[in-house]
Amino acid sequence: MTAMSRPWVQVNFVSSADGAVAVDQLSEGLSHPADKRIFLMGRLLADVILVGAGTARAEGYRGARITPARAARRVSLGLSEVPPIAVVTRSGELDPAGPLFTDTKVPPIVITTEKAPRTALERAGAEVLVAGTDDVDLHRALALLAERGLCRVDCEGGPALFADLIAADLVDQLCLTVAPLLAGAGERRIADGRPTPEPRRMDLASVLFEDGFTMLRYRRREGG
Ligand SMILES: NC(=O)c1ccc[n+]([C@@H]2O[C@H](COP(=O)([O-])OP(=O)(O)OC[C@H]3O[C@@H](n4cnc5c(N)ncnc54)[C@H](OP(=O)(O)O)[C@@H]3O)[C@@H](O)[C@H]2O)c1
Repeated sequence: MTAMSRPWVQVNFVSSADGAVAVDQLSEGLSHPADKRIFLMGRLLADVILVGAGTARAEGYRGARITPARAARRVSLGLSEVPPIAVVTRSGELDPAGPLFTDTKVPPIVITTEKAPRTALERAGAEVLVAGTDDVDLHRALALLAERGLCRVDCEGGPALFADLIAADLVDQLCLTVAPLLAGAGERRIADGRPTPEPRRMDLASVLFEDGFTMLRYRRREGG
């Protein structure tokens, strides 16, 4: 793959047909093997997997599991064997004894604020990057990752981080699976939180179908 010098951000989501981001607080109830293949493809081609702390906590994040064949494929593409997980957190409230730190082949990255406690996370093996005073400035966060050669960013959510990425105009591609399911009221949508000054126009780059699931890929419209 061609070397990149600036951050490029892909975001992955699955939603119900009526726009819900989760069923019973988890994305598992919306997913399908075809969606999982796309999710894994995002990981396969990434320098780093970016996730909000809410998702890391809710979904019990651990280090990426890459089969030896996939690790070899990554190396043949000029990538590291295993992409690190980078968690964005304002509070720094991540369990140093949790699987994010203990069940991983590569150290996790924690991107946080000056105010967040970090000693325990560093002791647990994380590389801690400070990218803001009260809030993580996502432009700064991505620049810090790029300085480490981590330009291809695969963001796995969740809704608050996605809303912040949209508001900062940092989304280059969205891979969205729509599940043939009506989840009903009470669930959040895939972007939820900070409002965006104006909508960004995307181009539909590809559509795949399997078992009633639709896998959509939207690319940033340059100059749009
Ligand atoms: N359907 C899907 O594809 C999908 C994908 C992902 C997640 N989800 C679901 O989404 C739910 C979690 O939602 P969520 O909104 O909590 O997820 P989230 O966006 O992953 O996490 C929000 C948290 O991330 C941190 N954060 C986000 N943006 C930040 C910024 N600019 N600066 C500093 N910190 C920032 C904060 O962490 P602190 O609280 O630590 O300060 C914030 O409370 C779960 O139910 C999960 O299953 C679904």
